[in-house]
Amino acid sequence: MPAVVVLGAQWGDEGKGKATDQLGTRVDYVVKFNGGNNAGHTVVVGNEKYALHLLPSGILSPGCTPVIANGVVVDLEVLFSEIDGLEARGVDTSRLLVSASAHVIAPYNRTLDKVSERFLGKRRIGTTGRGIGPTYADKMSRVGIRVQDLFDEGILRQKVEGALAQKNQVLVKIYNRRAAEVDEVVEELLSYAERLRPFVADTALVLNEALDAGRTVVLEAGQATMLDVDHGTYPFVTSSSATAGGACTGAGIGPTRIDRVVGVIKAYTTRVGEGPFPTELVDADGDRLRDVGGEFGTTTGRPRRCGWYDAVIARYASRVNGLTDLVLTKLDVLSGWETIPVCTGYEVDGRVLDEMPVDQSDLHHATPVYTELEGWQEDISGARQFSDLPGAAQRYVMALEEMSGTRISAIGVGPDREATISRHDLLD
Ligand code: GDP
Ligand code: IMO
Ligand code: MG
Repeated sequence: MPAVVVLGAQWGDEGKGKATDQLGTRVDYVVKFNGGNNAGHTVVVGNEKYALHLLPSGILSPGCTPVIANGVVVDLEVLFSEIDGLEARGVDTSRLLVSASAHVIAPYNRTLDKVSERFLGKRRIGTTGRGIGPTYADKMSRVGIRVQDLFDEGILRQKVEGALAQKNQVLVKIYNRRAAEVDEVVEELLSYAERLRPFVADTALVLNEALDAGRTVVLEAGQATMLDVDHGTYPFVTSSSATAGGACTGAGIGPTRIDRVVGVIKAYTTRVGEGPFPTELVDADGDRLRDVGGEFGTTTGRPRRCGWYDAVIARYASRVNGLTDLVLTKLDVLSGWETIPVCTGYEVDGRVLDEMPVDQSDLHHATPVYTELEGWQEDISGARQFSDLPGAAQRYVMALEEMSGTRISAIGVGPDREATISRHDLLD
């Protein structure tokens, strides 16, 4: 089984980290292809809990090569503090590869992310404040700084000067902030260069050669379909391509090499930050999902907005990603409800839509149409086979599969590696 994409089918935090980690022992490469340290993946291995932001989940599997590919934006301070944190806990990080073409998050872009959010006020996106948006904007505007630039001081200085010629105007004249000094920025970036050097590689070449040699490569998305800059709830999205197409451009792999696209989806829905969320519960039911599911951001600690499962989104994610499999996570969190509503369509201005409205305003005004499914009372966290689940939980899964347009190949019943029911092998 050569290349498998693992991505989020909702608004992030579906449990991608756990899903990738589980495959890790059978995988040769785990590749992060988009985003940066806006991601937060919690992975539980035995009694140890790891919060990963920038490093791919494969870092926790001995024998697996973790890759930060060209589509990622890299905060070097975060990279090395994450490496140091893992090394201190006995995790070997020496196999890591970092693309020479990945962009670097410069300090002025962290500042710009925060001040532009403040400037937007009510219209803010609710970003993680990590400099992600401004760094991707620089990439598209062709004033970005890349990993390879760190190894030639003259080129680095030229690029920083070029970027700051524009940025300082914006920082000073629009946001009333101090101008960034070229020397300070260059010095900060250069301070990481020698430590970074051994990790740097032509990762697209490495991955294509690995695929030629029959190795197994997992391409792990940060964020999710509904946060994708093209297919998400724009402008309330992140600034990268978190969908399956992004795996190709973000890793330098052709689409013909990808065999499976696995969508990770929660048995209910969450979202962090601003933007439309039709099935959101702003009542005691939402609080209960948040408490039982531990729905607080891994990156910013913000309480996640919670709501019911939305099959319109599941179908949309299936379509835009060409999903072959779904991994349904956190089914255990739903134990104890009498009935569980599931959204099958949206009512907009008296019409019922069963597909995602093309006009974003319609999504803002959409009222979910719910089907009530029967709940179950049992604790299901010990289930390891589908037949271990109570009848109502089995029927819930089957109903979701039917509505979502993609088979459910694995079911999460707890945060641990082992707490999973497998129905179809994801690497077969
Ligand atoms: P990611 O960003 O998609 O990797 O997801 P996060 O790590 O941000 O959030 C998912 C959270 O749910 C983490 O705390 C996981 O440990 C936890 N988790 C993952 N799968 C399951 C599951 O099946 N059941 C429960 N109870 N927790 C899970
Ligand atoms: P993982 O990989 C959930 C959200 C932010 C904000 C929007 C833009 O853990 O699923 P950004 O800082 O990216 O410019 O913020 O995207 N966001 C996430 N929400 N999970 C994530 O990552 C996210 N990464 C960004 O909350 O609404
Ligand atoms: Mg997360």
